[in-house]
Amino acid sequence: MVAAEQIEIRRLDGDVLRAQLDALAAVLADCVAGGASVSYMEPFSHADARAAFDGFASEVEAGRRLLLAAFDGETVVGTVQVLLAFPPNQPHRGEIAKLLVHRSARKRGVAQALMARAEQEAGVEGTTLLVLDTVTGDPAERLYTRLGWTRVGVIPGYALYPDGRPCDTTVFWKAV
Ligand SMILES: CC(C)(COP(=O)(O)OP(=O)(O)OC[C@H]1O[C@@H](n2cnc3c(N)ncnc32)[C@H](O)[C@@H]1OP(=O)(O)O)[C@@H](O)C(=O)NCCC(=O)NCCS
Repeated sequence: MVAAEQIEIRRLDGDVLRAQLDALAAVLADCVAGGASVSYMEPFSHADARAAFDGFASEVEAGRRLLLAAFDGETVVGTVQVLLAFPPNQPHRGEIAKLLVHRSARKRGVAQALMARAEQEAGVEGTTLLVLDTVTGDPAERLYTRLGWTRVGVIPGYALYPDGRPCDTTVFWKAV
């Protein structure tokens, strides 16, 4: 069992992200295999997950998002992103996306550590307001509430689980 203190959170630039594509893809594929509603539907292969992070690398290089990874030694066990590209009248806004922790590394504070660093890095980019949405009733909803996010409300049937079942979404915001 790995304590959160042994986890190192790193912000990845485009080159390092591309070097970690397989490791990041493994985390995403594991989460989707575990039934997480994070944009993707079954069947979802490692190659699909790799292609997703390859696309994120281009966005990171363009300054449109930032991406963090949680390392246990040199093993990637989790990741989170902050979307930074919004219309000109929302230069202060960011959005948390793709908070993912491998099932083998959960319940050790990895997500909490990723979120703390995401808020910090968003602030460095000039973001003062963060928003996110998450599946209603999933563990992430408890996490965000515990971390001081304000719950806006629930949108019924907003998205689908990977197996096609609909799920409700809860919207949160936090000033950082
Ligand atoms: C949601 C998710 C990111 C949480 O990751 P995590 O690393 O397990 O989160 P944490 O460890 O910070 O917190 C999870 C729980 O472990 C507990 N915990 C934290 N450190 C602990 C420790 N050292 N010992 C025991 N329990 C601990 C927390 O209190 C929390 O408890 P709760 O579920 O009762 O609220 C993870 O479940 C996941 O990847 N889910 C699939 C993808 C997903 O839904 N992402 C959210 C998209 S918005």
